[in-house]
Amino acid sequence: MKKVKIYSPATIANLVCGFDILGMALNHPQDEMELILSDEPGIRIKHTDGYNLPAAVEKNVAGAALLAFLDEYEEKIGFDLTINKIIKPGSGLGSSAASSAGAVVAANHLLNNFFSREDLVRFAMNGEKLASGVKHADNIAPCIYGGVTLIRSIFPLDLVSLTAPPLYVTIIHPQIEVKTSDARQILRKEVQLRDAVKQWGNIAGLVTGLLKSDYDLISRSLEDVIVEPIRSILIPGFDQVKKQSKEAGALGGGISGSGPSVFMLSKEETISNNIEQLMKDIYNKIGMEYHTHVTTINYEGVKIIG
Ligand code: HSE
Repeated sequence: MKKVKIYSPATIANLVCGFDILGMALNHPQDEMELILSDEPGIRIKHTDGYNLPAAVEKNVAGAALLAFLDEYEEKIGFDLTINKIIKPGSGLGSSAASSAGAVVAANHLLNNFFSREDLVRFAMNGEKLASGVKHADNIAPCIYGGVTLIRSIFPLDLVSLTAPPLYVTIIHPQIEVKTSDARQILRKEVQLRDAVKQWGNIAGLVTGLLKSDYDLISRSLEDVIVEPIRSILIPGFDQVKKQSKEAGALGGGISGSGPSVFMLSKEETISNNIEQLMKDIYNKIGMEYHTHVTTINYEGVKIIG
């Protein structure tokens, strides 16, 4: 019996100004999955977590990704998938991407890497389509490639892995659920030219800052004038978290993916720990349940562990 166990990391999509085109993989939290290659055609999915996610293949994001995978594979085979979800669905930390990406990386490993990593991103995007209504790769690509990824285009796929200097990431995850599909629905379909110009400047600045390890440029570029002003309304305490984190030395930050998690980047671990404490204080005052994480960039992506 051929089987594989993997870890699949959480990711931060958008990285503030790069809506749908930038993403970063994290060392924590990560989902655990086990995939068994079977002679019996079809896909069978089991969850060992308590999230009540659908087990029906076509309704499950990992199932949708594996269906796309099998569709292009030459032989009739099957898979038995067990998912232990650690990344809470609807957190804004790439939970659906971790399932879809993890499943196809595991499947490919069992088939001696028959497909390219780019193919895997393409398959896994079917899971994102199921979860949010549209294909986007800003969680999937960093989840599979690790590090920070630029998605220059999805049709056709054009992915660029970016180098990045060491960064600490502090995350607060308010215990409310924001559905990506809803968070996309509320966005304006038109953008003012002056806002677009600002955003272009920030995206180019952020990418250059990452490549040159220029922390000041990264900090100046972590600004989103298009999406954040609308989505942040859904997140209690957002403005306060952002303002106080910056005062405490954060380079900057914003909404993680489509929220409700909020992340802040720092150059030093002590600063990121202080930010975690101030985030907790703010949410304790608000009286809302939360989880926090302090983590770093994951350079490996989905990891085979056995
Ligand atoms: N780029 C997507 C969005 C990420 O912001 O809607 C969703 O995780």
